[in-house]
Amino acid sequence: MAISIGRGLLKLPIEQLPVFEADDLELRTNLGGCELPNPVVMAACYHQPWIIKKASKMGFGAVTLKVTKNPRKGTKPNIVRREEGFVNCVGFENAGMEKTREFLKGYEGVPVILNIAGDSIDEYCEVIEDLQDYTDMIELNISCPNIENGLYFSENPKQARELFREANNVGKKPLIVKLSRGENQEIISHAIDSEIGIVNYANTLPVKEKRLPMGFGGLSGPELYEDTIRIVKKIRKEFGEDLYIIATGGIDSGEKAYRAMESGASAISYVTGFITRGPFLAREINEYLLFRK
Ligand SMILES: Cc1cc2nc3c(=O)[nH]c(=O)nc-3n(C[C@H](O)[C@H](O)[C@H](O)COP(=O)(O)O)c2cc1C
Repeated sequence: MAISIGRGLLKLPIEQLPVFEADDLELRTNLGGCELPNPVVMAACYHQPWIIKKASKMGFGAVTLKVTKNPRKGTKPNIVRREEGFVNCVGFENAGMEKTREFLKGYEGVPVILNIAGDSIDEYCEVIEDLQDYTDMIELNISCPNIENGLYFSENPKQARELFREANNVGKKPLIVKLSRGENQEIISHAIDSEIGIVNYANTLPVKEKRLPMGFGGLSGPELYEDTIRIVKKIRKEFGEDLYIIATGGIDSGEKAYRAMESGASAISYVTGFITRGPFLAREINEYLLFRK
């Protein structure tokens, strides 16, 4: 019900209020060759053009749009509240490559990251080749815990290496690997060997959840935060300063975003905070980051 109310409020023209931009040269961020106005990214969740268009005017430095080759339907009920966060099994509900291309052709706004998932390497590559001229960055989602085969590449590092190589062969835009929760050393090494310079730590955490149709889903929100900080620190220490890291999981305040950046993140992203804390959070985080500079 809360999500429906939130979406209803989002339909009002609030993005026209002159309150979202925290425009400051000091916030500008280079993310693997792509210039963002600030380091606060809307993480993958949405596929609806109207939400992406609105979010692009709500203070984010980039917005993420998810897509698969063919349109996919979601499951219902698909999201339930757990403490301050959610458990979801929305899968990859999206309009598919063709409709997404039409939307992107007319899009104007902050940089777009396309979050791509697929059942095979060919499917990922087809979407990259088809859509890359209309986007700024491409995120390989190998970490969706709540659909069949969603974790396939995360759990099979050799296959992941193949995917990274092929994606890098066809890809002209900066590539990001969206990691699953855990240590990921082998996967990150394969990404770097394939000249992929950006990782996003991380997707949701698989948990049992009786209220969802499949009996499990992906946990998001504050319960993930300490894991996000711990692993971001570890990745930065092990893989050095050249790797770009997006910290994702449980960030819902300026202080939490700042700590993630101090722990080694090059940028931060969130979804749950957008739903629970509302559309002003990106501005709040950017102001806090400026205040701590
Ligand atoms: C409803 C919902 C849908 C999501 N869909 C995707 C997706 O399609 N691709 C993806 O890589 N991550 C997806 N995520 C994961 C988020 O991008 C993010 O990694 C995760 O929620 C942790 O961040 P948070 O605690 O700020 O929400 C989704 C999360 C939620 C809550």
